Amino acid sequence: MVFESIDVLDKPVPVQSVNTQWLYETGVSLDILRLDELDPEISGNKWFKLKHNFIEAQRGGRSTILSFGGAWSNHIHALAATGQRFGMPTIGIIRGEPGESLSATLTDAVNWGMQLHYLSRSDYRRKNEVVFLHHLLHQLGLPAQEVHVVPEGGSNSLGVQGCCEILAAGGASLGSYDEIWLACGTGATLSGVALAASKDMPETRVTGVAVLKGGDFLRNDIDKHTIQSLDNWRLLTDYHHGGYARITKELLAFIKSFESETAIPLDPVYTGKVMFAIWYSLTENLKQGLPCRGKRLLMIHTGGLQGRRGIKI
Ligand SMILES: Cc1ncc(COP(=O)(O)O)c(C=O)c1O
Repeated sequence: MVFESIDVLDKPVPVQSVNTQWLYETGVSLDILRLDELDPEISGNKWFKLKHNFIEAQRGGRSTILSFGGAWSNHIHALAATGQRFGMPTIGIIRGEPGESLSATLTDAVNWGMQLHYLSRSDYRRKNEVVFLHHLLHQLGLPAQEVHVVPEGGSNSLGVQGCCEILAAGGASLGSYDEIWLACGTGATLSGVALAASKDMPETRVTGVAVLKGGDFLRNDIDKHTIQSLDNWRLLTDYHHGGYARITKELLAFIKSFESETAIPLDPVYTGKVMFAIWYSLTENLKQGLPCRGKRLLMIHTGGLQGRRGIKI
């Protein structure tokens, strides 16, 4: 199979319009780009981050794709599924010690043929050092020229290139929007979306919600990905709820009430924090008498629902 032509998109991704009491009260319209419905296994933004990595791996004559993540990583899950779907072996370097049993995420990954290797947390922190990586490949008996290495979260320039295709995946159902909202872990998805929006939706502003504590450093990373060429985006760093994968009662209560009103599932690590931020900022605007009536928002549902299996909701 020639990877140049691989795709999991055989029809546009659904764009769903949402009605809740708070949207009604604030007079704001909200659509959701349901990337979570893209594919049962390769869900959310992950396909977009992986697509050009697979193409490049094959073009470069590599036989294997290797990447990094935790026991519940959406990225590792999607990488394993994509490797199996298109017939390229994958290796997952997993943070921490192997537990007594595999997480549901890693069980799927192994079932899809991924080879797992664990690194202690201190070694894992060194994963981006060239010499360390070289040693690691050597230890695994892998000739460096045969392996395409993708950084944690799929956040390289090939990942950003794929994320430039996210808005187009909505096809003709995508309307015109004042604001696009999405989750930021590494900022690669925001970079791609903001690059595409700057060309196709020049009036639209992109808001990223940092899902980790102290996310200000992401601004630099996004500037690097976009060659500091954009001023159509902003990053909100106050909606992390305590840090990466940390969850507050307030967040869980919000997710439950949103799901019961709309039947749209959210995960508490990424998309739940974004929707919470939309709700919170709109209701604050309303309280302070700031204008928001008539605003048109698009939220990008970046998936992550498989990771919910690791969290009691
Ligand atoms: C479900 C989900 N949404 C959003 C993100 C954040 O994407 P990025 O790392 O490109 O900012 C991730 C992590 O990659 C994710 O798994």
